[in-house]
Amino acid sequence: MSKRDSGWWDEFFPAFRPLFGLLPRKATNAQVRYFIKLLKLRRGRKFLDCPCGIGRIAIPMAKMGIRVTGVDITESYLKELSRKAEKQRLKIDLRHCDMRRIQFDSQFDAAANIWTSFGYFEKESDNLLVLKRIYKALKPGGKFLLHTINRDWLIANFQPDGWQQVGDTKVLERRRFDYATSTSNTTFTLIAEGEETAYDTSIRMYSYHELIAMFKAVGFVDIEGLGSEKGGPISHASRMMVVIGTRPGRR
Ligand SMILES: C[S@@+](CC[C@H](N)C(=O)[O-])C[C@H]1O[C@@H](n2cnc3c(N)ncnc32)[C@H](O)[C@@H]1O
Repeated sequence: MSKRDSGWWDEFFPAFRPLFGLLPRKATNAQVRYFIKLLKLRRGRKFLDCPCGIGRIAIPMAKMGIRVTGVDITESYLKELSRKAEKQRLKIDLRHCDMRRIQFDSQFDAAANIWTSFGYFEKESDNLLVLKRIYKALKPGGKFLLHTINRDWLIANFQPDGWQQVGDTKVLERRRFDYATSTSNTTFTLIAEGEETAYDTSIRMYSYHELIAMFKAVGFVDIEGLGSEKGGPISHASRMMVVIGTRPGRR
């Protein structure tokens, strides 16, 4: 991985592993069913999970016969996912790559960026680049789904501090919202076995209308937004939003 691809994610995500415990299997399975329906995926179709993390979505999709490619920058996650896939005799194509650098060309029926994995880069052109690369990776007619926190909800419900217990790890969050850049800057302090480590993160937060503009700028059409994992319109009351766009053309 080249130095230009380094950032807060390098140290944060390997340590973030216990936080996957926030999404139990039941919630993940409901997400998978919903995303499959929205992306019109079925057995044999090619799906790009970018980034894929520990395979929360990639594994159940592969089990359904979907041909999954997963991209992620955290090596320990890819190793864990590869071990799990092997154990379950699932074939998943894994790539250790920064999401800005993927080089696929017109090969996927669908792609997704799930669980607020977008807006990680300080330069807005880099965030847009992720969309451009994903757009290029899709076949004409292919669909892209972005699942992320809704800035409008975040502002209305902003809490500067928070903590939660995830398994054996206590997680403290100190949040600061930068209105000039629309970034949520959070220091996560993870406490486990008496050890305390702090990590700074910075994520660009988007409102639905901004994502529509970005989707349009890269060429997506038929853009629609859903305000929850159960559907319905996006409003300030929607904590998460799902935005879907289609690469124009016929499959
Ligand atoms: C919140 S997790 C979500 C993972 C997965 N989409 C899911 O829903 O379980 C964000 C993921 O982004 C990955 N990531 C962070 N920065 C990245 C980058 N620059 N390029 C590729 N992946 C990155 C992390 O390693 C982590 O797996």
